[in-house]
Amino acid sequence: MSKIKCVGVLTSGGDAPGMNAAIRAVTRSAIYNGLRVKGIYRGYRGFFTNEIVEFKSQNVSNIIQQGGTILKTARCQEFITPEGRKIAYNTMKKQEIDALVVIGGDGSLTGARIFAQEFDVPCIGLPGTIDNDLYGTDSTIGYDTAMNTIVEAVDKIRDTATSHDRLFFVEVMGRDAGFLALNGAIASGAEAAIIPEFDTNFAQLEELIKNGFRKTKNSSIVLVAESEITGGAIHYAERVKKVYSQYDVRVIILGHIQRGGSPTAYDRILASRLGAAAIDAIMDDQRNVMIGIEHDEIVYVPFSKAIKNDKPIKQELINVLKTLSI
Ligand code: F6P
Repeated sequence: MSKIKCVGVLTSGGDAPGMNAAIRAVTRSAIYNGLRVKGIYRGYRGFFTNEIVEFKSQNVSNIIQQGGTILKTARCQEFITPEGRKIAYNTMKKQEIDALVVIGGDGSLTGARIFAQEFDVPCIGLPGTIDNDLYGTDSTIGYDTAMNTIVEAVDKIRDTATSHDRLFFVEVMGRDAGFLALNGAIASGAEAAIIPEFDTNFAQLEELIKNGFRKTKNSSIVLVAESEITGGAIHYAERVKKVYSQYDVRVIILGHIQRGGSPTAYDRILASRLGAAAIDAIMDDQRNVMIGIEHDEIVYVPFSKAIKNDKPIKQELINVLKTLSI
């Protein structure tokens, strides 16, 4: 029998659509299994401000369809220091919280991993980020919704690009990961994607753009993953403008609209399954794992693997984009 009686849940880092569905699933599964649940507000910061509230089933009513996170989120500097984490641990004990479910990206799960090691606290991570950059899960909570937002936006951009015979560089999020840019490009029929995982030299880009205009198309759209490695959309647009003054070039940075909106059915179901599995893991005395999904099965990925390993981009996807954008 597990000794755990009360579970704390928090969302941390960049918000992602579906986080609310995950909070709901964690809360209701915990109560179903006879556990108490406490919501910790503003990520790890809630430990310092003591913004911690006992959740009943009705606290999570009517949130499955809402974007953002009812628990709020933050990137907490205090939690980065050992002294800060000691304060967090003391608060946790005072609040009688025995285990933690952290919903967030790699930074948030890194915090959970260190905390679990230092204080022997059972921590379970749920991959909540639009970036889809966590190793060991086919998808992260929020990725599908963000992808659909990108596709909707690029479809609209295509209309105006075609009307004006223009070349658009569309910058999408991803923080050093190219999943949104590459799959967004495939899904929206874009001509190319520039992603940090693969080197796109200027000559290749020129070829792609020229091909785009030379054929039946009279517009070209290139998705660029925001990243210091790619340099971003403006960087490429400036270079193209300098060399090809005949192209009418525009830049759009989609920005934070990618993080908002009602989660897709896929993200709601994913978040519900992962949230329920987090409580199953706690009941089974599992600790320090991220719950992921692989081939439609729940998997338990040790934090060390989920955080340390880079999630690879499939060469096949690069080939599909290249083949279909002729
Ligand atoms: O990690 C999620 C993410 O949206 C990244 O794609 C992006 O680089 C970053 O967060 C933006 O962070 P902020 O909201 O702090 O500007």
